[in-house]
Amino acid sequence: MTSPFSTTCYELSSCRLIPLKPSDIQQISEQLSHMHPWQTLGYSATTLSHYLQREDACLYKYAVMTEHLAGILCVRYPWLRGAYIELVAIFPQQQGLGIGHTLIQWLANQLISEAKNANLWALVSAINPQARQFYQREGFIEIGELQDLVTKGYNEILLRKPLLL
Ligand SMILES: CC(C)(COP(=O)(O)OP(=O)(O)OC[C@H]1O[C@@H](n2cnc3c(N)ncnc32)[C@H](O)[C@@H]1OP(=O)(O)O)[C@@H](O)C(=O)NCCC(=O)NCCS
Repeated sequence: MTSPFSTTCYELSSCRLIPLKPSDIQQISEQLSHMHPWQTLGYSATTLSHYLQREDACLYKYAVMTEHLAGILCVRYPWLRGAYIELVAIFPQQQGLGIGHTLIQWLANQLISEAKNANLWALVSAINPQARQFYQREGFIEIGELQDLVTKGYNEILLRKPLLL
């Protein structure tokens, strides 16, 4: 079986995806640790950096590039008859420019090219209304709320986007 994701570069309409380089991990981890929801949920730069450094053959990690480093995308595949967006972040200066939309479209296209009736999954914090609205507009359905999953006192919402041919 071939994988819809690989460790090559992808040219997309509003950005470029490059396999994550060790030299980018510190900058990305620092930025995320100061961004909502990671800051609110108590993630430190060190925790994030360990996560991004960990070897994991089923986790495809990409730096999102425009002229500069614009964010990060980590996608777990295979996952529950599809793929799971484990981490997506566009840095604040580059949000609202359509990059997130481009990433969702690309993920969906990659999956559809490999399997009929695949699914794109994500998790969003209940305290992140902007991201919830973003996912809703991208066609994700809120499946259920998971209590205290990441941090005690905060709930996460499992999201599913069925990809029908
Ligand atoms: C959520 C997130 C990944 C979306 O990425 P993005 O690049 O900002 O998304 P887009 O630009 O495609 O869409 C965002 C909004 O901008 C609007 N937009 C899209 N293209 C646009 C453009 N060319 N110009 C202006 N606005 C645009 C969209 O209508 C969308 O509106 P909505 O939020 O009301 O749905 C990003 O904002 C982010 O990283 N946020 C912080 C971290 C986070 O919450 N991560 C996800 C959950 S863990």
